[in-house]
This record gives sequence, C-alpha cells and structure tokens, in this order.
Amino acid sequence: MSGDLHISTAVIVVAAGSGTRLGASLPKAFVDLAGQTLLERSLRSIILLPYPVQVVVVAPADFVADAEVIAYKVAPGLEELVSVVTGGATRHDSVAAGLAAVQSSVHVVLVHDAARALTPTTLFADVDMAVQATGSGIVPALPVVDSLKQVDVTGGVLGIADRDQLRAAQTPQGFPRAELEAAYAAAGSSDYTDDAAVFAANGGAVTTIPGDEVAFKITTAWDLNRAHQVLGGIPDAHRVGTGIDVHAFGEAENLWLAGLHWPGEKELSGHSDGDAVAHAICDALLSAAGLGDIGSRFGTADPAYANASGEVFVHGTIELLAAAGFEPINVSVQLIGNKPRFSPSREEAQAVLTEWVGAPVSVSATTTDGLGFTGRGEGVAAIATALVRQR
Ligand code: CTP
Ligand code: MG
Repeated sequence: MSGDLHISTAVIVVAAGSGTRLGASLPKAFVDLAGQTLLERSLRSIILLPYPVQVVVVAPADFVADAEVIAYKVAPGLEELVSVVTGGATRHDSVAAGLAAVQSSVHVVLVHDAARALTPTTLFADVDMAVQATGSGIVPALPVVDSLKQVDVTGGVLGIADRDQLRAAQTPQGFPRAELEAAYAAAGSSDYTDDAAVFAANGGAVTTIPGDEVAFKITTAWDLNRAHQVLGGIPDAHRVGTGIDVHAFGEAENLWLAGLHWPGEKELSGHSDGDAVAHAICDALLSAAGLGDIGSRFGTADPAYANASGEVFVHGTIELLAAAGFEPINVSVQLIGNKPRFSPSREEAQAVLTEWVGAPVSVSATTTDGLGFTGRGEGVAAIATALVRQR
C-alpha cells in the first residue's frame, strides 16, 4: 500500500465473521441481498463519498480472493486505495488486522460492520466530520424506544433502566487514528463488543451522533428479509433523468437519426453523426445516474468521436452506468421536427435503440405547427426521459 497519497481517512470494513446466526452456507458478508452481497453494498455506500478514503476490507482467510473481486468491481482502478486483509477469530482481532494495513497519512479511522449493508453514505461522512471536528471517538447511535427491564436468570424483573440515558450503538464508529491504535495495542485480545468500548477503556472520550434506522445490523434471516423490504422502498434505488439534443440540417443527403440511416434525407450537422435521438438518450441516462452529460463524458471536441455514430455514444453511456452500478429500466424519446416522416420507421428505430440500451426504448414524433426552428425545417430536437435502477 502506497503511503504517499495523503489520504486522511481510512474505513476498515470488517467482514471476516462466519454469520452463524444467519445460518447461510457462506460467510455473512458474502450472502446475497437483492443481487449484491452485503459486502458489495457496504462498499458501494463508502465509495459514494465525495472525497477519497482508504478502504481496508477484512475477510475470512478462505474468502480474501472473493473479497478482492467484489472490492475491485465496486472500485475499479483504485487498487492503491482499496485492499483486502485476512481477519481473525474474533471481531476484535479482525479490526486489529485492518488497523495494521492503514496507510501512514491517515489521521481518522472509521470501523464498519459489513453486516450493516444499508448504511447510507451520509453516515460515513457525518462520523468522519465529527471526528475531525472534535478529536473524540464518534459513535452513531439511536434512542432506545422500548421500556427496559433488568431481569434475573429466570426472567424475573429486578428493576428498570432509564431509557432516556441509553443509546443503541451502530457503525461506522470513528476515531483519531493514533489513539485507536494505542487502545487496540493496550487491549490485546478482548471481549469488548465494539471499538468505542476498546477506545474508552484506554481513556478515550466517546461522543454519540444520531444514527440511522437503515444502518441496522443484519444478524438473522429475519433481518436479511427486512433488508430486502427496506431496499424495495429506498427512493433513490430508482432514478429518473432528462436529456435534450438539437442538431441543424446540413447539405449532404446522409441522415442518421434514431439509430437508422435515412436515404435521401438531409444529414444533421455536428461533430459526430448528429443523431439527436441517440444523444438525448445518452444525456437522459447519464443524468439519471448523476454522471454528468454527453459533452463532459465524451468530449465533443475529442477527435476520437469525430463522425462517431449514435451507437458509440449509447454503448459508452451504458458502460459508464454499469461501472457506477446503474442499469436502465426504460427510455422514452420524443423527436420534434418536420422531417423525416418518422412513423413508418418507428418500430425499426425502437428495435435498434432498444438493443443498444439493453432496455425498452420508445420513440414518438411530433411537429411544432410550423413554429420555431423545427417548424421552419432548420433542424430537429429530441427530448428523452430515462429511468434507471441502482444495482
Ligand atoms: N467480524 C469479523 N471477524 C470476526 C467476527 C466478526 O470481521 N471474527 C465482523 C462480521 O463479519 C460482521 C461484524 O464483525 O460484519 C459484526 O459481527 P456479527 O454481526 O456478529 O457477524 P458474525 O460474527 O459473522 O455473525 P455471528 O455472530 O452470527 O456468527
Ligand atoms: Mg459475531
């Protein structure tokens, strides 16, 4: 691991447990949750931070290679920042193994359970910021809503505890790096159930910040099913985007539009082949995934794209989406212009575009009653709406 990247925060993702209570045939972090392993979901949340952090995944000895495949799928090309180490017999030992891999420039270490697979990116950012601001250990925690009873071994109630003074601790928990290392060195192997307890036992101050209900730990089959239900309801699992493109007619009779060649029709001018329908589709997809637009992603002045066909841009867009964990659900495009007469070729265009996108594309066409540049026959416009799903 290179030490000269000046990264100031590291996140240790502990994923080395066996998941006995879940009872799956794989270690818990490698169990599937709606198409992604718990580890992959945890990593995606971290990788969406708007600034770079070091990520150390701690995996069971037999699953280091699997963890690497997952990590580099989530963070392609980030081998300098993302690594996998072998865990220990207890969570405590696994965290210690992760700590040993933290690079020298790091000042803040966050420790996170891979089992809290739905933890939002904002919680990582909030914990990191709070550690930087206070220099304390930071624990995201939720108020306890149930009444609390102290009981004997038979379940007889001995007394009550004041729930107002209690919080349920989650992860990621964040700490100043040097103090956390000192605390782990002093603790040796221990029975502490979380990192804040190790840190506090060595004299470190720990403060809570508000946790998040969806950062719950997946422990049992019930929890895994609950995570499934929660996922279905997360609003940003589906995202919508809009794209508009306009091109003027040129002179040559070489029109490419909506993925089709139109013999005898005037071409659309532009740096590329001017396929406004294909370009609007790209912009809508990129916008839905929050990945910018066609101009910034493909460089309209880039000689690599001179005269490029719509297919080149659509395929490039789908690749960018896939790399960011998105897949198209459908796209709807409307072409605005007097020419070409679109409806006879609608089915053919839809079939071509659907194949390029890998999801249904519907195309409609309209005119503007003689008004504006489309009405005067100077060019065409296309407006696309795309729906994408976060995988
Ligand atoms: N963990 C770890 N190394 C261990 C034990 C646990 O890295 N030796 C990790 C788990 O992978 C999990 C987190 O610590 O992400 C919280 O532990 P827990 O939910 O108890 O997971 P498991 O120990 O895997 O589950 P169980 O206790 O049911 O076996
Ligand atoms: Mg455990």
